Amino acid sequence: MSEKIYPVLPSAKKNTLIDDETYLEWYRKSVDDPEAFWAEHGKRIDWFRPYTKVKNTSFTGDISIKWFEDGVTNVTYNCIDRHLEKRGDQVAIIWEGDNPYIDKKITYRELYAEVCRLANVLKKQGVQKGDRVTIYMPMIPEAAYAMLACARIGAIHSVVFGGFSPDALAGRLVDCQSTFIVTADEGLRGGKPIPLKENTDTAIDIAAKQGLQVKSVLVVRRTGGKIAWAPDRDLWYHQEIARAEPECPPTEMKAEDPLFILYTSGSTGKPKGVLHTTGGYLVYAAMTHEYVFDYRDGDIYWCTADVGWVTGHSYIVYGPLANGATTLMFEGVPNYPDYGRFWDVVDKHKVNIFYTAPTAIRALMGAGNDFVKRASRESLRLLGSVGEPINPEAWEWYYHVVGEDRCAIVDTWWQTETGGIMITPLPGATKLKPGSATRPFFGVQPELVDPEGKVMEGSANGNLCIADSWPGQMRTVYGDHPRFVETYFSTYKGKYFTGDGCRRDEDGYYWITGRVDDVLNVSGHRLGTAEVESALVSHHFVSEAAVVGYPHNIKGQGIYCYVTLMAGTEGTDDLRKELVTHVRKEIGPIATPDKIQFAPGLPKTRSGKIMRRILRKIAEDDFGSLGDTSTLADPGVVDGLIENRQNKQ
Ligand code: WT7
Repeated sequence: MSEKIYPVLPSAKKNTLIDDETYLEWYRKSVDDPEAFWAEHGKRIDWFRPYTKVKNTSFTGDISIKWFEDGVTNVTYNCIDRHLEKRGDQVAIIWEGDNPYIDKKITYRELYAEVCRLANVLKKQGVQKGDRVTIYMPMIPEAAYAMLACARIGAIHSVVFGGFSPDALAGRLVDCQSTFIVTADEGLRGGKPIPLKENTDTAIDIAAKQGLQVKSVLVVRRTGGKIAWAPDRDLWYHQEIARAEPECPPTEMKAEDPLFILYTSGSTGKPKGVLHTTGGYLVYAAMTHEYVFDYRDGDIYWCTADVGWVTGHSYIVYGPLANGATTLMFEGVPNYPDYGRFWDVVDKHKVNIFYTAPTAIRALMGAGNDFVKRASRESLRLLGSVGEPINPEAWEWYYHVVGEDRCAIVDTWWQTETGGIMITPLPGATKLKPGSATRPFFGVQPELVDPEGKVMEGSANGNLCIADSWPGQMRTVYGDHPRFVETYFSTYKGKYFTGDGCRRDEDGYYWITGRVDDVLNVSGHRLGTAEVESALVSHHFVSEAAVVGYPHNIKGQGIYCYVTLMAGTEGTDDLRKELVTHVRKEIGPIATPDKIQFAPGLPKTRSGKIMRRILRKIAEDDFGSLGDTSTLADPGVVDGLIENRQNKQ
């Protein structure tokens, strides 16, 4: 473990919004008197009616979380309207196409016009406050317009990542009973088309079998590729926009009115709809965006995430726009046309703040330094990392090679559930240790808890909980509050349990060690082992499956599947390929199994519980320390599993 310490850079200290003294003072205040702290910081957004109540939250009983509850506002008023006077002609969104010769700049005034028109289209189609609108889009400005248009009229958006399969899309449509979809004919990534409309059509058919009738599909023409058309259901985006009224007043929203649902994987069952609301979410997204990235007026800010993930919600769209920033949206992939793309884009648009995921950093590191050196990168001031633990080697490469020792790195730990960044350095305040997310943001009270639920003090290694609420926290699982209570508040009474393991060192720095539950993190994408297992067993040749993660050089974790076949079925390489295709079809390419091992039997306890600990060890090719196997119903299966392991070193 690296214990190297990098002092705060003089350049980061200069004019910083928060130096170390300020951090410590504000942090104290934020945990000693959250009410007063957030009463003050809630004012960073504009309210149509100011709040008088600030915090009304309880982590016991039925779990109720309310922030600024009697305040009234609208997210798009804060992200657009209030900037018009001063920054109407400032660029709000820089769009960089998949093709390096195509880009576009949208000013705040243009953004206002686009969002108002689209909001009017939604209204005309009968979308009302509280209705769920599904957004299944490539990374084009219309994806942001669609999110904002929903927020403008109080509709709840559910963005589904464009890489998800029709089955996955259908599941999400049905779960929140969404009957309005915004999509595109095709997406374009790395020069390859992605059949979004075709997938949507398939998903609608699947959903119909489950009783959901989708009423309208609004289709952006992105590639002009050939698509099927249902005249009484499908609408061309450009045609509808052309006919729409240009003004749409922002709907008054209570602070606790829902803003969006975003589906995420857990250790059990199907993905759950994480619900975020209006006021607290926006305050938290905007505040973290400003302080974590030390964002200054005029900065060009680029987060490489997809809007299909929470990072895209909070740090491409809502946080930056609430702060009147210029946010860059990238349609493509890091290795197209080649591995130098990110740095070319940095030079092209003079990017100052760059935020990406460790998996991308590792892949680019592997491609060699020439791709980096080809670009000057002189505009860069700050680098960010998110999504999974960053290994010290990748951190050092990011710091020395990409940032040339003059850019601080903010390794930001957070989750879909937390709405915004929770543990992170502040560039002008925090000394950096490669691999550590360092210290909590204002108002965040991390606790390390041992398996018995005892809070551990000082340097320790335990399960990461958060002791009290913060404004960006999810409010419920959409349509299933008991699942919310059960998932996050039942393991350790009175605390929010993150699902992550974590170490705190002698300086009070936090080191996230990864998930302690059955959640995988593959290239920064979150997947439940149960989801992959249920995809596998839905294949007619599979009788049982157990899925575990194993360390993977680029992806962080790879997907290792143990598959028991139906009697009489032979485990061939062709069947392996078929199962891989099957899982991709069921969930999407992000769930592509890396290894499939055919296993006549799985290690189970006498009560029938699969002992994943053993399967993990074998997948890691570390079977010298399998621990106690005497409780297995049939200890003999282990030898066979070891012999046929797929990760032999
Ligand atoms: C899980 C949440 C938050 C946006 C992207 C992922 C892991 C996230 C870090 C980090 C170590 C991290 C955790 C967490 N994670 N950031 N900086 N260091 N681990 O959101 O899909 O909800 O996944 O990602 O395991 O629980 P998500």
